[in-house]
Amino acid sequence: MKAIQISKNGGPEVLELKDITLDKPGADEVTIEHKAIGLNYIDTYHRSGLYPLKLPSGIGAEGAGIIKEVGSNIKEFNVGDKVSYAGIPLGAYSTHRNYPTKNIVKVPNSIDLEVAATLMTKGLTTFYLLHKTYPVKSGQTILFHAAAGGVGQIFGQWAKSLGCTVIGTVGSDEKIEKAKSYGYDHVINYNKEKFSKKVLEVTHGKGVPVVYDGVGKSTLEGSLECLSIRGMMVSFGNASGPLAEINVPKLLQPKGLYFIRPSMQHYLSTREEIDEAAKILFEKVESGKIKIQIFKKYKLENAIEAHQDLENRKILGPAIIIP
Ligand SMILES: NC(=O)c1ccc[n+]([C@@H]2O[C@H](COP(=O)([O-])OP(=O)(O)OC[C@H]3O[C@@H](n4cnc5c(N)ncnc54)[C@H](OP(=O)(O)O)[C@@H]3O)[C@@H](O)[C@H]2O)c1
Repeated sequence: MKAIQISKNGGPEVLELKDITLDKPGADEVTIEHKAIGLNYIDTYHRSGLYPLKLPSGIGAEGAGIIKEVGSNIKEFNVGDKVSYAGIPLGAYSTHRNYPTKNIVKVPNSIDLEVAATLMTKGLTTFYLLHKTYPVKSGQTILFHAAAGGVGQIFGQWAKSLGCTVIGTVGSDEKIEKAKSYGYDHVINYNKEKFSKKVLEVTHGKGVPVVYDGVGKSTLEGSLECLSIRGMMVSFGNASGPLAEINVPKLLQPKGLYFIRPSMQHYLSTREEIDEAAKILFEKVESGKIKIQIFKKYKLENAIEAHQDLENRKILGPAIIIP
């Protein structure tokens, strides 16, 4: 059995592949043999120290696999079940692990475990953003940043399935067609043009009622410029760096804007919340409304390369690690 561990924060080189021995699962845990591991931008925040961890630590927040052993309190899962999960405790970058069942769901037979490993973070995040944080309505025009990324691939298709006109931003011209293939109606290269100007053009000066911004530092002010009166800024990530303090009188007050900084645990912490979201997500995939195109598969021993690619903006869509 093997796992990637970090004993200090830093660049991708701090990811170390180690041989491990696994204890029996705890009473409320199961042992999972991973078939695929989700690669997520949040993994880089844990590795770098932006989101502090107690070290040494495992890494990785999303996986899919087969249950090999169940703890003594477990009734709802059995050996042989196909399952996936997202959330803490970290440690998904591993061949096998013990994990509490509170975040685990059974994966329908029709969904491949490699696909399932792209869904629990990126898909459930899309669910709560579009249905809970700012529930969109059919006919609305909305903005999403990093449209050709992992969350971006699912978000574009999901928002289209709800009847939205979706504007997406990307960091290079080669990503424009990719984002269009994920459902975005208008795609802007924000490294070439001022995206807020373009969004106001597309919306005939009105602006959008909501911006979903996982890019953070470099897009904050432009995102607020794109919002209409009483619009909502949903800041759900910081790929370009964390947000500094927000000047409320200058940035929010003139248009009476809402600002929210949500995380998965604010929406997906109870069994009922996770089951409701996973059911809707799996239905979207089974019905073909969301098609997953895995951009790249990395070997566990190549986790360093996976993090380098992620931070160098070379990943166009969901990527996974195969243990
Ligand atoms: N709050 C939550 O619950 C939650 C859950 C899941 C994910 N997230 C957040 O959602 C965002 C997307 O996650 P993901 O895993 O799907 O990643 P991703 O979108 O595949 O990768 C991040 C993308 O951000 C863009 N970016 C802009 N400036 C960047 C910079 N300076 N350095 C690197 N990338 C930059 C790049 O796209 P371009 O080249 O097109 O600009 C890059 O591909 C992340 O911020 C993540 O933390 C939040």
